[in-house]
Amino acid sequence: MKNLNRLLLLFIFLFQLQSSKAGKPADKMEWWKEARFGMFVHWGLYSIPAGEWNGRKTKIGETTEWIQCYMKIPVADYKPLVAQFNPTQFNADDFVLLAKEAGMKYIVQTAKHHEGFAMFKSSDPFNVVDATPYKKDIVKAMADACKKYGMHFGLYYSQAQDWNHPGGAACSGHWDAAQEGSFDKYLDDVAVPQIAEILSAYQPEILWWDTPCEMTRERAAKFAPILAKYPNLIVNNRLCEGIPGDLETPEQFIPATGYPGKNWESCMTMNGTWGYGANDHNWKSSEVLVRNLIDIASKGGNYLLNVGPTSLGLIPGPSIERLKEVGAWMKTNGEAIYGTTASPFRRLDWGRCTIKKAGGKNLIYLHVFDFPKDGILWIPGLSSKVNEAYALKNRNTKLQVEPAGNYLKINVSKVEMEKFATVIVLETSDEVVVYNAPEINAEYSIFIDKASFKLTTDIPNCVIRFTTDGSIPTNESTVADVTNTISAPSSFVVKALCFRKGKAISGLAEKSISKEEPVSGVVVQQTKPGLQYSYFEGIWGQLPDFSVLKPLGKGIAQSIDLTMKKRNADYGIVFTGYLIVPETGVYQFYLSSNDGSKMIISEKTLSNDGLHGMEEKSMDIALTKGLHPIEIQYFQAGGSDDLKLEWKTKGKDRIVIDKSYLLHQ
Ligand code: GLC
Repeated sequence: MKNLNRLLLLFIFLFQLQSSKAGKPADKMEWWKEARFGMFVHWGLYSIPAGEWNGRKTKIGETTEWIQCYMKIPVADYKPLVAQFNPTQFNADDFVLLAKEAGMKYIVQTAKHHEGFAMFKSSDPFNVVDATPYKKDIVKAMADACKKYGMHFGLYYSQAQDWNHPGGAACSGHWDAAQEGSFDKYLDDVAVPQIAEILSAYQPEILWWDTPCEMTRERAAKFAPILAKYPNLIVNNRLCEGIPGDLETPEQFIPATGYPGKNWESCMTMNGTWGYGANDHNWKSSEVLVRNLIDIASKGGNYLLNVGPTSLGLIPGPSIERLKEVGAWMKTNGEAIYGTTASPFRRLDWGRCTIKKAGGKNLIYLHVFDFPKDGILWIPGLSSKVNEAYALKNRNTKLQVEPAGNYLKINVSKVEMEKFATVIVLETSDEVVVYNAPEINAEYSIFIDKASFKLTTDIPNCVIRFTTDGSIPTNESTVADVTNTISAPSSFVVKALCFRKGKAISGLAEKSISKEEPVSGVVVQQTKPGLQYSYFEGIWGQLPDFSVLKPLGKGIAQSIDLTMKKRNADYGIVFTGYLIVPETGVYQFYLSSNDGSKMIISEKTLSNDGLHGMEEKSMDIALTKGLHPIEIQYFQAGGSDDLKLEWKTKGKDRIVIDKSYLLHQ
């Protein structure tokens, strides 16, 4: 019976998630889509060590809110930080007013991060009100201030990692007996009750889950009865792998083409860490921050930009400075961000575009990053008639617009260039229609003697014509085939345009394809199957110089995997040997790892270094038939570990490199 009930709850839960994915209740995402720009606040006990413990500093890539895990700090040493937590200078109004000044429309604050410390009054004693000299509820103060100033409010809650409650450290691997325990019991005793507490006490509009490792659908369903009470709550996609939630959450990057048809939010730090880092002075410039916001909006997403307050409760000075500068830009140009949708242009050489409908008009916002020196801004492939053009900063001065074939020329010579980006508005009465440049897809970016590429377009009723001699295609140029194969004596550039009734209508596509001499292999005698490996242990934020380190183990690996590791974190492996290249040709290698890795083949390097989740990097290389020296370096800091090396040979799908191609001496 109990099982039946649980199953029923699971179904209700999944059904709700499904319907919320389909956009129900109808408009819960409306304000969020209009907002486009929010503030992330990472604040907890970790603001006290601020990236340094017992004289050891966090390295680049080691974010300070993870300090307990990186430095394997025992529970009994970390929890007493509560006695020092007394942010007497904290004023929630200052946070909200700064966010407002920056043009941000919502705040997402960490209610509890992986350290397990609640920044709110909780029935669990490890909380700001009951355990610290400060004694005041920080989440409540922020929620109240947000309400007072009309700022939307959301809460981050780390459901799947909690290093200071027994059972909660399952996903990061324990380093202290005090962390042992059942993960399910931790969920039942801590996470589920705390979610009930924060949702009812502070009524956030967003619930921001994190690091869903160890979460299963059954475990996620434990939260279902509570979530069911808040149909308007926006939840992200990090509750549990496979449960989509309401939004995608790319972290520290802007997806190349956004997530068409989905809601998404890029969260990013201003320096290199989420929590306050006393030693991290690597601040992004205000220009980068503004352009990130524009880039994200032009791809249809939101920007959640982080601040990490100090243990006294102050936002660091460099963050304040930058947010004010972003705000100054937003004051004039916010209209080109709020409530806009993704750019209809696939690419604009000089900047980005956002669009919106307002007052019966279609508005095209051109965000100019590289202001044209000759004062002429070229707009490719826009077929809608432009009624009016002006700069947002000076709406009354209308700009001259002149069609020039498949381009529109806008005279911006009188426009005063702005810091970060200048926004030019085009108003049209009809729907915005853009004829984008055709796409050029080459199987490889290099060739040895013959290059082949495909030209495609989604423009109806048009002919694609191309050149390979550097000239702009005309109505006489070669018509593209399904696949175009060219034998060329040297590197060349493909240029392509779409033509209708003899006239070019699209933007221009260009792609360079370079000719390369294949790299020769080596002659080696007496090879044996597999690669040699060396195993190391150490704490790194990027690949160390393994050649100066002493390996803790050596052996032969039949394939490129991590089976020889002796623990789950803070280790490194170097594989060396030879790769059998079956025939002379171009090969594409894909190296994926979590954390960093690099591959060196015949002295060419493919780097995938740094601390990151499973990430892929690829490289094209021309190789002769025979044996090629290969080396793969890998390191793992924490979280999950993985390493994969695939290749793609001509006309075939990519596959993991089979062990039969690996040799050593
Ligand atoms: C992460 C981290 C983290 C940070 C965050 C923001 O994966 O664990 O410390 O809170 O996500 O996206």
